[in-house]
Amino acid sequence: MLLVELQRRAVDSIKRHALTMSLASPRAQAAILTEYLWGEEGAESSALQQSAAAAAPPWLGKLLARQLSDEQRHASLLRGRLAELGAEGGPPPALARAKLWWLERACSSYAGAFEAGPIVLLLAIAAQFEATGVRVFHRHLAVLEAHTTKDPLAEILGSILADEQRHARSCAAALEKLALPHEREALAELRERIASVDRAFGVTIAVGYWLLVASRVLRDRARGAQGVA
Ligand SMILES: [Fe+2]
Ligand SMILES: [Fe+2]
Repeated sequence: MLLVELQRRAVDSIKRHALTMSLASPRAQAAILTEYLWGEEGAESSALQQSAAAAAPPWLGKLLARQLSDEQRHASLLRGRLAELGAEGGPPPALARAKLWWLERACSSYAGAFEAGPIVLLLAIAAQFEATGVRVFHRHLAVLEAHTTKDPLAEILGSILADEQRHARSCAAALEKLALPHEREALAELRERIASVDRAFGVTIAVGYWLLVASRVLRDRARGAQGVA
């Protein structure tokens, strides 16, 4: 548990530092928003879309459809802010794709473990992404609140965060509802396995994120220095 806590703190402080550095750099902000956009249009949405396609019961189909429409709204808010910064989204980094591959691999041994079928696996992955989204947007908002008086991004992130908190709660509740009483232990194991893949990538992804932000900050500083020379 000590290692888990150390990993969590390392990821949090590396990312907080990167976010603080980004405040004076439109390019660094654009790089961060592009990462969020990959999450909204890629990881989160594809997990939800696959869940919706996996023979979901009607109550869950409705819930997933609403969440998917929220994710589209998040993506369009982020695209709008990126356009204001003069940037547009790019393809996901190789590390994000590798993480998805490992997540699917980590879940494969649970394919027949639940009577409700593969939807439990897909929803467990979606629940992890939603919980990660809550942490990410909460951290970014806290940095904005601590260092700026009024940033146009704060309103956008606040609105996305409120949705992600609801999504995380409803995905977790749906999983509890889908798992039969004798499947609860397997569900807890599955969720821990997914969380451990997430943690395994955490520090590496955070360092890559820091380097990306730092390189954009340096470019903006170099440009600024040229401009005043
Ligand atoms: Fe989202
Ligand atoms: Fe979400």
